[in-house]
Amino acid sequence: MKTSTRTAIVTGGASGIGKAIVARLARDGIAVAVADKDEKQAAEVASNIQNGSQIMSVGVDVSDRTSVENMIELSHERLGSLDILICNAGIMDRAPFMEMEENFWDNVLNTNLGGVFRCSQVAARYMIAGSRGGRIVNVASNSGIFGGRGRAAYGASKAGIINLTQTMAIELAEHNILVNAVAPGPTKTRADQPDAPWPSVAMRMPLNRYGRPEEIAEVAAFLASPACSFTTGHVVSADGGFTIAGIMEG
Ligand SMILES: NC(=O)c1ccc[n+]([C@@H]2O[C@H](COP(=O)([O-])OP(=O)(O)OC[C@H]3O[C@@H](n4cnc5c(N)ncnc54)[C@H](O)[C@@H]3O)[C@@H](O)[C@H]2O)c1
Repeated sequence: MKTSTRTAIVTGGASGIGKAIVARLARDGIAVAVADKDEKQAAEVASNIQNGSQIMSVGVDVSDRTSVENMIELSHERLGSLDILICNAGIMDRAPFMEMEENFWDNVLNTNLGGVFRCSQVAARYMIAGSRGGRIVNVASNSGIFGGRGRAAYGASKAGIINLTQTMAIELAEHNILVNAVAPGPTKTRADQPDAPWPSVAMRMPLNRYGRPEEIAEVAAFLASPACSFTTGHVVSADGGFTIAGIMEG
């Protein structure tokens, strides 16, 4: 087993984009805790990555404070330090605004935005105590940058993550903890998704295709790396140009 010099926790690491981030960080020799509500799948991801890095799995519900505290304590104890936190766990539930119920709103906000708040706050305490700085990378979404049908709660949670990223960057800078976000566009994470995004989306994407989880992971890995040393509080879109597209023809 390689001796890892850096350590990371990836929430929602059991599938999709999170799983790709786990694999990407492991490729850099980083010891990783795969933290997910789906403990069985998290354990499977951890055991399938066999490149010599230390990979562990741990169950967590990011909407619950005690669960988050336990997850970070256990990961820190087993990895020996905490340098990187990737806040990726999230739910993409949608509902029309006029039909959205209180508990739906609460659940999406508490999981997506609340999850980033509590995971980051608890992790930052360990990073500060470790006195070697750190990196926090939050997974936002282009739905946090512009409006989208059915996404009142989801979009608000992701817009909140972008603003929280900026404030954490300001307040944690004195501890050399850099906080950034990656905002994916439509990304193909499931086999049952169509090969191409639906036309109303694709026509606004200069690259005109789904992103791959590995492409989002590359951006997250850079933001988590020592090479990212003077960038904090920013959101990097990985979305095939979706958020910058204006006039596409003519
Ligand atoms: N797939 C896309 O097109 C897309 C686009 C923009 C942003 N995102 C964001 O990327 C992140 C990952 O999305 P994905 O497409 O890989 O989804 P996914 O459903 O494949 O993965 C999400 C993971 O988070 C875990 N999770 C959910 N709730 C949790 C909780 N309360 N506590 C702990 N773990 C929990 C799930 O078990 C799952 O393993 C999400 O934050 C999502 O909002 C995805």
